[in-house]
Amino acid sequence: MPHIKVEKFDTQLIETLDDIVVFRAIVLNSDDELFAINYKNEEFLLHLKKTDNNYMIKYDKITRPLKVELLKEAISQIATRLNLKILSSNIQNKNPKGSISSKYLKKIKDFESINFSKKRVSIEVGFGSGKHILYQANQNRDKLYIGIEIHTPSAQQLLNQIDIQQLDNIWVVNYDARLLLEMIPSNILDEIFVHFPIPWDKKPHRRVISKSFLDESIRVLKVDGKLELRTDSNKYFWYSLDTFLSYPKIMVNIKKNEDLPVISKYEARWRRQEKDIYDVSVISQAISDDRDNIYDFSFKDISFNSELINTLPKETIIEDQFFIHFERTYTIKDNMLLVKCAFGSFDRPEHKYILIAKESRYLSSTPVSTLTNYKAHQKLQEYLDV
Ligand SMILES: C[S@@+](CC[C@H](N)C(=O)[O-])C[C@H]1O[C@@H](n2cnc3c(N)ncnc32)[C@H](O)[C@@H]1O
Repeated sequence: MPHIKVEKFDTQLIETLDDIVVFRAIVLNSDDELFAINYKNEEFLLHLKKTDNNYMIKYDKITRPLKVELLKEAISQIATRLNLKILSSNIQNKNPKGSISSKYLKKIKDFESINFSKKRVSIEVGFGSGKHILYQANQNRDKLYIGIEIHTPSAQQLLNQIDIQQLDNIWVVNYDARLLLEMIPSNILDEIFVHFPIPWDKKPHRRVISKSFLDESIRVLKVDGKLELRTDSNKYFWYSLDTFLSYPKIMVNIKKNEDLPVISKYEARWRRQEKDIYDVSVISQAISDDRDNIYDFSFKDISFNSELINTLPKETIIEDQFFIHFERTYTIKDNMLLVKCAFGSFDRPEHKYILIAKESRYLSSTPVSTLTNYKAHQKLQEYLDV
């Protein structure tokens, strides 16, 4: 990721670049600084790390813009305009590793207001090498397949295949599947495929299938739509069946050693070992209520109060479905503060900076619009209201 190492300089000078620098924040109990940048309509932070001999200016993980080029350009402008003496730099690198892009790659936030490109939509959770989703998308060109995969190289591999096979009916989301369903409107999906999920026998809380995943699946599936689990794990099979049957009214189908027209790498391995393969499908039978996913993440009554530095709790606040942890506070001149915090669901927390000023707000972007994040946001306001 972009960074430069420069000779020491008077960091107050950064404030003279007021067309791109929004503010300079000082870290309490440390020499390090943060610069808030607004460049080409993108807001992000840069870190300045001080050592005895030099300073490093580098990107911030939380507010990093999708286009790495913006980071490079902003860092380069700061260096050029302040005439900084560069000791080392990687901002000339082309094609940085780890950033993937394609029009078929969707961000979780895109789902806050999205028009599905086809009338019929299915989701595959944890597509791995992508064999199954590619097969489905080739067979049903009139249907949109949303593949959600937490492993970035697998997401990149599927994007490459979409390009090679010239498909226009797959979207790839590189995120945790357990949260995506919260962003999907009710009653629209034909299928949710969960094939060979990681069994997580020792850490069951990490399993994709859970009571809340089932609730969300039933909400987003059309009548007659199905949630299909396929697994080689006897334990996962019984665990899922138990989870499904704990639902008050449900239709479940079970198959053993059913042949599918496409065999994934995992399935091929289990077949070579002559393991049994189980399919457990839940068929949705009812129309679910619409879910209005538009939550208000503004901070209406929160403004600057210097007391906040002393009153924010140091311990993590744990509530029923979410947590809040205030990580750090930064001071900014002109009666402003920056609070770094983590909050939201235990599975996929939000990491954010909150600018406390006359009009307080999340820096760079608001949290993903889920009910859990909204509940955490409401609680956050109570702690910030001093
Ligand atoms: C055992 S592999 C199976 C891959 C593929 N479905 C198949 O049948 O070959 C499980 C896949 O699920 C992905 N995965 C695990 N947890 C996930 C989650 N919470 N959200 C999205 N993907 C997940 C993993 O990265 C991995 O690629």
